[in-house]
Amino acid sequence: MKKSVRYWLVAGIILVLVQMILGAITRLTGSGLSITKWDIITGTFFPLTDSSWNHYFDLYKSTPQYQKINFGMTLSEFKFIFFWEYFHRLWARLMGFVFLFPFIYFLIKKYLAKKDILNLSFVIILTVFVASLGWIMVASGLINRPWVNAYKLAFHLTAALLVLLMLLKTYIDYNKRPFVVFYNISRNEKISLNILMVLVLLQFFLVG
Ligand code: HEM
Repeated sequence: MKKSVRYWLVAGIILVLVQMILGAITRLTGSGLSITKWDIITGTFFPLTDSSWNHYFDLYKSTPQYQKINFGMTLSEFKFIFFWEYFHRLWARLMGFVFLFPFIYFLIKKYLAKKDILNLSFVIILTVFVASLGWIMVASGLINRPWVNAYKLAFHLTAALLVLLMLLKTYIDYNKRPFVVFYNISRNEKISLNILMVLVLLQFFLVG
């Protein structure tokens, strides 16, 4: 077991937890629809000039949310909602970097067992899926209705939770020794735990 892999897995878990909190703040502040385009590269740059702010604000003014809910919003109020959605997306990019490049490095260095590679490949695919769902959800709120589709939001939230659970499982699998208790449970206990986890995920989806 390599310390660097262990620290990387812990960093991944913390990154996802922070992203879930940023997502909740984005939702609670009504910031989710402030950025009307998903430019993976150019969207990384925070607007600094009046002209770039006016560009983004003009795009937002054409949305149903501005016209039906936030009509007359000032530029400084727009800057507030823009910041949270921007930061949520920036953090998603950061997650991409922190997940992908060390993974490739550890693969080359053969620090990962077959099971870890499978777990982590699933984590990376799921994270890309969560991010894509994020944009699909935003796009659902840019036509007609001034809010995001509730089912797409619930999928986004539940998929984010799955990323976290998958990373925790990868960490436990990777560190076997301290978590041996997880392995010494009976088959029935394992089945009941799995049923419980599915029920919790379902509740998350329905209540999310
Ligand atoms: C890749 C990692 C990502 C994770 C783990 C993640 C996770 C979350 C979570 C947990 C929430 C809160 C959901 C709730 O309160 O029900 C959220 C909200 C949100 N996320 Fe993400 N997200 C990610 C990426 C993205 C991306 C790339 C976008 C957009 C392109 C996005 C757009 C949003 C929006 C708009 C909201 C607020 C929804 C609303 O206003 O109701 N997310 N995210």
